[in-house]
Amino acid sequence: MIYLDYNATTPLDGRVLDKMMPYLRDYYGNPSAIYKIAKKPKEAIAWACDNIAELISSSPAELIFTSGGTESNNTALFGVAFSHKDKGKHIIISKIEHSAILEPAKFLEELGFKVTYIDVDNYGVIELNRLRDSICEDTVLVSVMYANNEVGTVQPIKEISDICRQHGVYFHVDAVAAVGKLDINVKELGIDLLSISAHKFYGPKGVGVLYVGEAVALSSFIRGGHQQDGRRAGTENVAGIVGLGQAAKIALEESARDSKRIVGLRDKLEEGIKKKISDVKVNGHPLKRLYNTCNIYINHVESESVLMNLDLEEICASAGSACATGNTNPSHVLLAMGISSVAARGSIRFSLGKFTKDQDIDRVLDVLPGIVKKLRQMSPL
Ligand SMILES: Cc1ncc(COP(=O)(O)O)c(C=O)c1O
Repeated sequence: MIYLDYNATTPLDGRVLDKMMPYLRDYYGNPSAIYKIAKKPKEAIAWACDNIAELISSSPAELIFTSGGTESNNTALFGVAFSHKDKGKHIIISKIEHSAILEPAKFLEELGFKVTYIDVDNYGVIELNRLRDSICEDTVLVSVMYANNEVGTVQPIKEISDICRQHGVYFHVDAVAAVGKLDINVKELGIDLLSISAHKFYGPKGVGVLYVGEAVALSSFIRGGHQQDGRRAGTENVAGIVGLGQAAKIALEESARDSKRIVGLRDKLEEGIKKKISDVKVNGHPLKRLYNTCNIYINHVESESVLMNLDLEEICASAGSACATGNTNPSHVLLAMGISSVAARGSIRFSLGKFTKDQDIDRVLDVLPGIVKKLRQMSPL
């Protein structure tokens, strides 16, 4: 089986699993308890916190563990919106955000908040002038993703944060698709809140982090016990947090090296497709793009049919966000980039990772042209 859907989720790194196992099997004590067997889990959480803080250059005290990217994003939006509603009820997001931002934003609108959706250009880069012009007295938060999970376009994060600083507005970044791939320094970049999910960089599913800068007032979103200093109630997912901490450690040590190999494979795939198949076009920014992501439009085919045929060849790719599977609408990201709905329906995402091999790319380049040829012969398009 050839797995080329790393932006949907990544396989667990064996070293992450090894690190987690004792916390599933042996060290079961509740980290909030005062007896001796709570000590190991408590220390493990602190160890994980240190690794994640190092990965994004924050302080460990600025991290809140969550159940993943979706909860981190919800907490950022609701937390800032609710605690600053007396200052203003306006937030700004981009049109190409993941549904884990779009849906909580929609819910805020139902609650009487105003949301502005900023346009992007043809490469998927946010229009800074529109952002600047949209900020008003009532604005409390701007939320823009670091890199887009569908096309890989990386946003001008520092420029956006400068605009937010000038206007005294908080800046949240959904960095789920970028963490573990790109160097992120929240202090240098002027980021106030940042979402992370473990399963996008070889950690386990169901665990994530929200970085909240020490100056940011945030009302609790999940209420209950006094865990994590009352910022997020609920007994910590100790094994998951340890896995996330180990994934962060590995990313710190190895991701720069892995990225060089992966970008070579991605470019080989892209060049190969362009050479072997006529009428194709890469979506997203040619340079400012995640090094593992290739989103490509293949004219005169429907992506669903291509994906089903690839699956028959034991190759996993996707048509965009996994969270949009089952939704027959064309990708909102591609549409926002000015791509026609026909072209959006003919676009496929290959996302590579550290377990991708040279032979995997050769195999895709062997079978894909035949699949496209067959589908084009059958297609009414
Ligand atoms: C950009 C982005 N944000 C948020 C999420 C949601 O993260 P999780 O699956 O951990 O809830 C995803 C997952 O696909 C994503 O790609």
